[in-house]
Amino acid sequence: MRIGYADPPYIGCAHLYKDHPDYAGEVDHAALIDRLESEYDGWVLHAAATPRSMAVLAPLVEKAGARWCTWVKGFAAFKRNVPVAYAWEPVIIKAARKPMVSKRLIMRDWIQESITLKRGLTGAKPEAVVHWALELVGARPDDDVDDMFPGTGAVERAWQTWRGKFALPDGPLFRTTPRPAMLEATHAEP
Ligand SMILES: C[S@@+](CC[C@H](N)C(=O)[O-])C[C@H]1O[C@@H](n2cnc3c(N)ncnc32)[C@H](O)[C@@H]1O
Repeated sequence: MRIGYADPPYIGCAHLYKDHPDYAGEVDHAALIDRLESEYDGWVLHAAATPRSMAVLAPLVEKAGARWCTWVKGFAAFKRNVPVAYAWEPVIIKAARKPMVSKRLIMRDWIQESITLKRGLTGAKPEAVVHWALELVGARPDDDVDDMFPGTGAVERAWQTWRGKFALPDGPLFRTTPRPAMLEATHAEP
């Protein structure tokens, strides 16, 4: 399956990236969600918790049948003149298939994870947040994940590390019986 992972400049925040080579002004989020719907089997969209962002996105999310999930930032950026920090963000997810309950993490519609520091880019995503989103979107290691707004490349890197730890119950990475080499190691004489 094809999964679109969209981490665009948030609504009203494109100016933060105006010095970047891929800057193209404000992103048209209606067109972006249309694209996610038409080109992908499932998708993830990061967004801001500002009133305008949520007002613009709410009807689009309802129409798409996607789900509002939340990234709660344990440690967030505190800004001068903003007395109550913006310390959570919506993550909108339309699952490609029914997600599997696994032991990799607790399957709930929010995650608490501090922001990443020293990545040199506003909005770079922590690996744990991307791993969580991949679980909720129902990804599998043989899917195609398209990091549509790559920035530092953190989403693509997290996709690769997540694939490495994914084990299907009937797949080659999952074994209920130990391999002979493991038995030898376990039962070896001291
Ligand atoms: C939130 S950042 C992506 C962060 C990335 N996921 C990471 O973890 O490093 C958004 C990216 O979109 C780029 N961008 C800015 N304006 C854009 C536009 N109009 N269309 C496409 N990309 C844009 C920015 O330069 C930035 O690299």
